[in-house]
Amino acid sequence: MGLWRTLLILLYVGLCGIALAGLRDDPSPKTEITYNKDVAPILNRHCVACHRPNDIAPMSLMSYEEVLPFARIMRESVVQRKMPPWHADPAFGEFSNDARLTDEEIAIIDAWVKSGTKKGEPEASSADQALAQGWHIKPDVVLTVPEFLVSKTAQDDYEYIYVPTNFTEDKWIQAAQVLPGDRRVVHHATVSVIGQSEVAKHLEKHAKSDEGEDQYHYRTGKVLHLRPDAPVIDDGCAAPDGGGIPGESSGYVNIVPAIYLPGQIHYSNHHGLDVKDRTSIGLVFAREPVQHEIGQYEIWNNMFLIPSNDANHRVTSCFTLPKDVIAVAYTAHMHFRGKNMLTKAIYPDGREEVLLYVPHYDFRWQETYFLKKQFLLPKGTELMTIAYFDNSKNNFQNPDPSKAIRWGEPSDEEMMGFWLQFADPQMVAEKSALRQK
Ligand code: HEC
Repeated sequence: MGLWRTLLILLYVGLCGIALAGLRDDPSPKTEITYNKDVAPILNRHCVACHRPNDIAPMSLMSYEEVLPFARIMRESVVQRKMPPWHADPAFGEFSNDARLTDEEIAIIDAWVKSGTKKGEPEASSADQALAQGWHIKPDVVLTVPEFLVSKTAQDDYEYIYVPTNFTEDKWIQAAQVLPGDRRVVHHATVSVIGQSEVAKHLEKHAKSDEGEDQYHYRTGKVLHLRPDAPVIDDGCAAPDGGGIPGESSGYVNIVPAIYLPGQIHYSNHHGLDVKDRTSIGLVFAREPVQHEIGQYEIWNNMFLIPSNDANHRVTSCFTLPKDVIAVAYTAHMHFRGKNMLTKAIYPDGREEVLLYVPHYDFRWQETYFLKKQFLLPKGTELMTIAYFDNSKNNFQNPDPSKAIRWGEPSDEEMMGFWLQFADPQMVAEKSALRQK
């Protein structure tokens, strides 16, 4: 469907990947556990990427003074494994950005709080300077969107913003990060790259307001919804298009050559005040010859209907890989009513393997799971996703259990998608061949 769904690499996850370094000396019960010696290194590795000024967490945990008032609740949240956030079932797949603390790390925080939260001798601080800046990467170039006024009435506003890169040559981008201008109103932003020749076409499409884009959709302002009377396909895997819009595939691929950077920013203002935003995109150029290009299959069921008050509604989507790809990362995407999601690969030889299971999905955490060991998914592999939704009143995030829900861009309507980030050596070869013509 015409939505040019886009590739967004959530980069901070890479950072969390560093978190797996081993522990220092075994803390025998006789040694005193102190903040400086034992606790700060754990927090620096696993927590401050979010718990620092102006980031997503509600409080900074970068110094003894900052940590102390939260010591008890911190202990509780790590013992119950609520923090750091991680939603993939460890029984399936190994991920390089696995955020979970080791049992030893949890024991140290537990013992530190129980033994009176001692400060200890100061050690050389390891809190990285770059961390204080907001960037998790060191961008070679920063592109900033023009200032945008998010009015207090903009509860769910999709804006399509085009930023010229002004690059005079093709560039390979190795890493990218979106830095929200004002986190109170930037709900999400997706970035993709399009050629200059396509800009006019995109502008025309996104200027449309209150108009559907095909027989199945309608718009309120710029926000797209599925029509209530569109055909219902819950079991996408039993349908010819795998759960996609009839006549279109369930899987979209996102990769395009570089010249213009269009961004889709979802603004959501619940603060009662007009807020100004200037969101930036930082890019790191590849330093070495590129061997693999990263693409993303986004595999959706776009046609489901979740009945009102249904506590366990099953929706599936299926997609057969049209070529060999190397699996790099997975993302499970639903909204407030998402309950759990499982994706398995059914290989051409019939063998099945669970790739990802998110047993307790939480819309507030949009995580991408990066594989520790990338592996080949051969052409012809079917990716089958089974999701359950909870549209009952027992789901505390549910905005309205009395409504039957279909696909829609706003968070209080639903989505069901599994995204596979993959590496493809072939695409690099094709591009350089093109350039040499
Ligand atoms: C990926 C970002 C991220 C990481 C990493 C992270 N936190 Fe959090 N933390 C948050 C956010 C956002 C919230 C507020 C929302 C929530 O409670 O879910 C939060 C809330 C908390 C709370 C309050 C919980 C409550 O019940 O109110 C504590 C305590 C906490 N974090 C401790 C930690 C500790 C300790 C670590 C590291 C071991 C850590 N966090 C790692 C983002 C993070």
